[in-house]
Amino acid sequence: MCGIFGYVNYLVEKSRGEIVDTLLTGLDRLEYRGYDSSGFAVDADKVNVNYIIKQVGKVSEVRKLVQAANMDMSKRFSIHVGIAHNRWATHGQPSQINAHPQRSDRSAEFLVVHNGNITNYRELKSLLESKGYLFESETDSECIAKLAKYVYDTHNGQIDFTELLKLVLLEIEGSYGILIKSTHYPGEVIAARNGSPLLVGIKSERKLKVDFVDVEFPDITVEAVPDDMSTQLHPRLSFPPPANGLLDTASSLMVPGLHNDLRHSQSRAFISDDGMPIPTEFFLASDLAAVVEQTKKVIFLEDDDIAHIYDGGLHIHRVRREEGMSSIRSIQTIEMELQQIRKGSFDHFMLKEIFEQPESIINTMRGRVNFQNKTVKLGGLSNYISAIRRSRRIVMIACGTSYHSCLATRDLFEELTDIPISVEIASYFLDRRPPLFRDDTCIFVSQSGETMDTIFALKYCIERGAMCVGVVNGVGSAISRQTLCGVHINAGPEIGVASTKAYTSQYITLVMIALSLSEDRLSKQTRRNEIIDGLAKISAQLEEVLKLNDKIQAVAETLVDKPKMLILGRGYQYATALEGALKIKEISYILAEGILTGELKHGPLALVDEDIPIIMVATKDKLFDKIINGIGQVTARSGKPIFIASQNGPALIEGSNKKENGVTETAAADYNGAEKSYVKFEVPETVDCLQGLLNIVILQILGYWLAVKKGYNPDHPRNLAKAVTTE
Ligand code: F6R
Repeated sequence: MCGIFGYVNYLVEKSRGEIVDTLLTGLDRLEYRGYDSSGFAVDADKVNVNYIIKQVGKVSEVRKLVQAANMDMSKRFSIHVGIAHNRWATHGQPSQINAHPQRSDRSAEFLVVHNGNITNYRELKSLLESKGYLFESETDSECIAKLAKYVYDTHNGQIDFTELLKLVLLEIEGSYGILIKSTHYPGEVIAARNGSPLLVGIKSERKLKVDFVDVEFPDITVEAVPDDMSTQLHPRLSFPPPANGLLDTASSLMVPGLHNDLRHSQSRAFISDDGMPIPTEFFLASDLAAVVEQTKKVIFLEDDDIAHIYDGGLHIHRVRREEGMSSIRSIQTIEMELQQIRKGSFDHFMLKEIFEQPESIINTMRGRVNFQNKTVKLGGLSNYISAIRRSRRIVMIACGTSYHSCLATRDLFEELTDIPISVEIASYFLDRRPPLFRDDTCIFVSQSGETMDTIFALKYCIERGAMCVGVVNGVGSAISRQTLCGVHINAGPEIGVASTKAYTSQYITLVMIALSLSEDRLSKQTRRNEIIDGLAKISAQLEEVLKLNDKIQAVAETLVDKPKMLILGRGYQYATALEGALKIKEISYILAEGILTGELKHGPLALVDEDIPIIMVATKDKLFDKIINGIGQVTARSGKPIFIASQNGPALIEGSNKKENGVTETAAADYNGAEKSYVKFEVPETVDCLQGLLNIVILQILGYWLAVKKGYNPDHPRNLAKAVTTE
């Protein structure tokens, strides 16, 4: 996915240098979302002209161009709009011409930055070409800028910016998050979204009011939200504030008599008590990470919102009418700190996030698990738990790592709830369009909350009347808003493209849901208590696993030249094998395959020889005998597995555990030697259903070191970006 950033200063004087720096810093923070080209547009010295600077490569390449450009960086602006973009190519190669902003014409009357995918752009392009427009890029985004100019020209310029954009958006199909600025509307910018996240950060010294205006329905009640009142969430947000206070959201307040007219009305969205305009800065972004160092006050836009900023005011309109749509937008106070989106002393975000896990999983459980009373309370589900218990089936739907977290917890759901559970990859689910019923519960698991495949699957399930539950990290994300109820995993921002701490927090959240669902079942109490006791210790045990970092790094050194690798696990550890293989392949580009150990003999055994690295997850659980059997199959074919095993656990190599069974001292010593000749990562033992939380960390770290030792940047795997907002 790409990254969008915009900056508006209103009566806050800034030099061009400061404005450009703000834009580029915003882009820096979004680099993890896509980084094949970047660009920005700011006002030039002549009226109604923009400087547009864009370049292939990372934001640093744009910085170099800025230094070389002949711009007067000391020129000051008290009102100014800048827009910027990091691109991750979908339509067209990474190239300067395809980078954003995209322009309407040579004099760039309209400039657009766009995330998403315009599905009817070919039709729009031919239409505009037939009207004489010359397209210069291969992007779908360019048609937005050109369409804007077309609408402007056909109205002879007699059209309000909001109205203009509404007409443009009504023609567009697909998904978008856009910012658009125009030389015809100086000092104004419009942000609009549909299926691609966008938020507005607001910074002002004074108390703020925000208008919500629907110009199509002038009799709609205009409501405003003061930023310092009440703590209740507005009704459309189905998640309660997490226990760690991530959200401190204001409730709605009726303010009668505010305007419902078009621009340049007397009332401003941001006014002080004495009616004077308030110096204000606005930060528009596709991601919270880009605004947290500027402000903690944000409004998450909804699909079909058109946020128009002019004269220091923020005016939110709707593209089209939708029954039941809330006319309230809340200013939320975000408790995300800058250090959370910085690498600190770590070389990479991925390693930082791996090492954050002892803390992030505590945050996931905070205020929810009572270790003394052995209870679990999930506020976001409390009104729905009984309904979920009555479901005829629970369907878990997700992609990639999030899908693996569902697999990792499926057995526990089945065991504790006795409800049939199916686990679905969102895209495959959509390809099949399987039968779904009103008495099904669907759980959507997503770190970003913005993954398009998962969102489409969610729409499919909503249409069929299933109860839809979200398990997301992204506060204010599409999935968190569109599901009926849910749980935030509270892992904190995950910047590394390879998901690590989100996996362990999703895993724990799903365990907590399974525990909640079985709270009323006497027969499950002993098992539930055992799991809750396990959760109490899991963070400290994860700390212990992290101490293996040096040993894992040394082992990575020995594997770095291997082109392929097998990772075997069974039972609860099948998900560990799949997720470990995904981590290794996506950042080190080693062809790693996760295999269910029980399936070895049905084919994959043919791959086993003394050369191919094989990692076997062999921690102790009820399947241990079968694990030993699998190890025997591998070693019998000269395979030399690397083990993830339980600390002080039983022997893994057949024969080494026979000392007690009357073997001679010499034979026992041989067996012992054999056992010791294998590389073994020993992890603390926990309850079987939680063991995967510890085991996966070994493979996360191994993937990290393999990438680093091969000279790759694990934070920027090729061809991948965080949050996949296209199908
Ligand atoms: C792999 C990874 C991806 C995501 C997948 C779903 O490390 O990060 O496989 O897990 O794209 O993303 P979310 O969880 O945001 O829906």
